[in-house]
Amino acid sequence: MSLDQKKAPIYEALERYNDMRVVPFDVPGHKHGKGNPLLTDFLGQTCMNVDVNSMKPLDNLCHPVSVIREAENLAAEAFGAGHCFFMVNGTTSSVQSMILSVCKEGDKIIIPRNVHRSAINALIISGVLPVYVDPGVDMKLGIPLGMSIADVRRAMDENPDAKAVFVNNPTYYGICSDLSKIVKMAHSRGMKVLVDEAHGTHLYFGANMPINAMAAGADMAAVSMHKTGGSLTQSSFLLVGKKAGITEGHVRSIINLTQTTSGSYLLLSSLDIARKYYATRGRELCAQVVKSAEYARAEVNRIGGYYAYSDELVNGDSIFAFDKTKLSVYTRDVGLEGIEVYDKLRDLYDIQMELGDLGNVLAIISPGDRWKDIERLVSALAEIKRRYGSEGKKQLDHRYINPEIVSSPKQAFYGEQESIPIMESAGRVSCEFVMCYPPGIPIIAPGERLTPEILEYIEHSKNSGCFMTGTEDMDIEYIRVMK
Ligand SMILES: Cc1ncc(COP(=O)(O)O)c(C=O)c1O
Repeated sequence: MSLDQKKAPIYEALERYNDMRVVPFDVPGHKHGKGNPLLTDFLGQTCMNVDVNSMKPLDNLCHPVSVIREAENLAAEAFGAGHCFFMVNGTTSSVQSMILSVCKEGDKIIIPRNVHRSAINALIISGVLPVYVDPGVDMKLGIPLGMSIADVRRAMDENPDAKAVFVNNPTYYGICSDLSKIVKMAHSRGMKVLVDEAHGTHLYFGANMPINAMAAGADMAAVSMHKTGGSLTQSSFLLVGKKAGITEGHVRSIINLTQTTSGSYLLLSSLDIARKYYATRGRELCAQVVKSAEYARAEVNRIGGYYAYSDELVNGDSIFAFDKTKLSVYTRDVGLEGIEVYDKLRDLYDIQMELGDLGNVLAIISPGDRWKDIERLVSALAEIKRRYGSEGKKQLDHRYINPEIVSSPKQAFYGEQESIPIMESAGRVSCEFVMCYPPGIPIIAPGERLTPEILEYIEHSKNSGCFMTGTEDMDIEYIRVMK
């Protein structure tokens, strides 16, 4: 690396700003906290001092020319990217800016159906048309897999006019597709590759990790620095590949369509400091995370009944690689659904897991975890099995429900519609999403036909206590369908 990764230009500029003792006659109106002592007591003076607006010495996120630009250049180098944008509206905005940068209304994008709602929302906003690739499901675990190369090739052959291919790297559960091969296939057909790395920040820093998007030659990547990279919630990076042939100015004008003109310096400095921390210490931090996850996996598997899976799942195709930092545990063989274990851990043991679904619970392991926390999780899982476990639950039929696409997400979302009871909606075309959150992967999305199978899955998820969302009706009793 040729730049000095020990620098943190935004953070350093804020330190200089603090020393200046500037008198603020600009927003925010709390004026370094003096205007709201309650908030200052809660967040502390340090936060309030740097919760400031754009100004000459601090640059401007919408048009960065000094310290934000320097920080973006450092981040680009650390991630092996041609350019890095600092994003303050979540990875949602990174995913959406990626899609809007390379696709226009009516263009096609090849995309696995197990994407996060932010990607399908981008299709609603833009009128871009999805060509879904069935990611397949592990029949025992019930988790969606990566895209197989044969399926991606078929989608490309049948849709040679598609503008881009979208890839999750990794999925929530740690599954990676063969990204390098997908990049090769896409580029040979003139298609761009956009990668959702919301769960993949660490892939840029750890040794022996699945390949990251920039190393695989992808064109753009949305990286949730706030998920496993240590920055504050809502901060994110949008990377553009060195050879992507996508101009920085074009992407910035897309970002500026929807991004705030008041970028938070708390978020921006957290990105700057997190990049510095990982660029200088990332390898050892990631090694520690893998060690903790491997230890936890071995201990969970020693309990019996639970299955904490790892790279034994790799099959060279739809599970091309596995991210070992993820601690995913299959629970049905102890007689409990993942969501039941999730709820018991939260309600009885004060342990907050990242997600529980019908078959699995997932813990995110990071450098912030202590051994004693992991021991506590393992012993709580053992006790839950002893107190509440039974024979083992019947395996679910985890067939992937391949949706019938009737209209574009945009047409359905904005089209003529009516609200009807969800359980009477079989055969109708949905104008809304229904999903469990997390993971935020739609069970049904706008433009797709509701079927008895899909309704059964929704009802089962609701009855099992999954946190359901997506419809205007907060109780998910009614759904808007096309007239
Ligand atoms: C795969 C994936 N992509 C994108 C996002 C959106 O990230 P954010 O919540 O930062 O907007 C998430 C959030 O969980 C996600 O899981």
